[in-house]
Amino acid sequence: MKINHNFDNLVPNYLFADIAKRTNAYIAANPDKKVIKLGIGDVTLPLAPVVVDALKKGADELGVKETFKGYPDYEGYAFLREAISGYYASFGVTVDKDEILVNDGAKSDTANIGDIFGTENTVVVTDPVYPVYVDSNIMAGREIVIAPSTAENGFCAMPDESVKADIIYLCSPNNPTGAAYSREQLKAWVDYANKNDAIILYDAAYEAFITDDCPRSIFAIEGARTCAIEFCSLSKTAGFTGTRCGYTVIPRELERDGHNIYKLWYRREATKFNGVSYPVQCAAAAVFSEEGQRQIRENLEYYKENARIIASALDELGIYYTGGKNSPYIWLKCPNGMGSWEFFDYLLENAQVVGTPGEGFGECGRGYFRLTSFGDRDNTIEAVERIRKLLGRS
Ligand code: MLT
Repeated sequence: MKINHNFDNLVPNYLFADIAKRTNAYIAANPDKKVIKLGIGDVTLPLAPVVVDALKKGADELGVKETFKGYPDYEGYAFLREAISGYYASFGVTVDKDEILVNDGAKSDTANIGDIFGTENTVVVTDPVYPVYVDSNIMAGREIVIAPSTAENGFCAMPDESVKADIIYLCSPNNPTGAAYSREQLKAWVDYANKNDAIILYDAAYEAFITDDCPRSIFAIEGARTCAIEFCSLSKTAGFTGTRCGYTVIPRELERDGHNIYKLWYRREATKFNGVSYPVQCAAAAVFSEEGQRQIRENLEYYKENARIIASALDELGIYYTGGKNSPYIWLKCPNGMGSWEFFDYLLENAQVVGTPGEGFGECGRGYFRLTSFGDRDNTIEAVERIRKLLGRS
């Protein structure tokens, strides 16, 4: 037998697994040191009370014969899809409940969607990039072309008309840079995709952090319904990193190569995925209630304040950074010309603060570093103090 030798082309470890390994080795060797983790974008605030109530109520219903549920619908319960459709309407975007498929988070679907596309397709990713898009396409053996996001283009890579893309991954607000595409920029991508018969795989996992008038959905852009699929997640919006729930939107009219894309994905999901548990779908629906939105906004404000705390320290230190405004991530230039991994080690060893080396997100991330605002407030303040002290001013 043979294994899938495309795996030979991957870097040895998934980025965040690599960071966890290095961090744990440091902690084991230095048990007396308090390490503060601002690396992986994992939330620290508890679920909103209204969400927990819905989760418990859903679990209680499973314990009663009359309300017990077995397998969920493959596309998710109608009550949740209706709530999501209403959420889109609240910011002026029309998405029918029958175009929504509930999933266990955007990571799985942005990777698994490749099942329905041929391996001969060319994939365009903006770089720096969330490693899942790259790794999953390397596993499938697809050719990957990079669209560089740099300080010069405001970390918003634009289409290169000389490249014939078939699949395009966009993430806005961006992980890791925090840059968000404007309406005009997204329109250029949509026009390019329609012209090239390509499909945009749009990751909107951080849309809830948008504070200006940047679009919250690719479907706010004219022409997107014939060229885009959107993935969203409650992980960052509502603290579901451990609870697991998200959704994928596929317009019913989206077709390629003589096939309806919604139908293909539904076929794939029915074969390989049995859905998200009933209590979790109840909890997710509660996020979209009026009270749920009020409560999750409080948590989002807390993280945004953390971002402000980190950003103001970098301002004082004269360190170049972007993000932190429409995004929970701060993307900074490593001080004193250090490399990304060099700065990772320097910060861990001298300040016991963990971040994410920009290089882990691709070539264009070299010399950059990502800090997350999802930490606990006291830890964020302490980490910032340590960084101030280490980098010259206290
Ligand atoms: C990140 O830190 O980039 C994210 O937490 C990773 C993820 O959402 O899978």
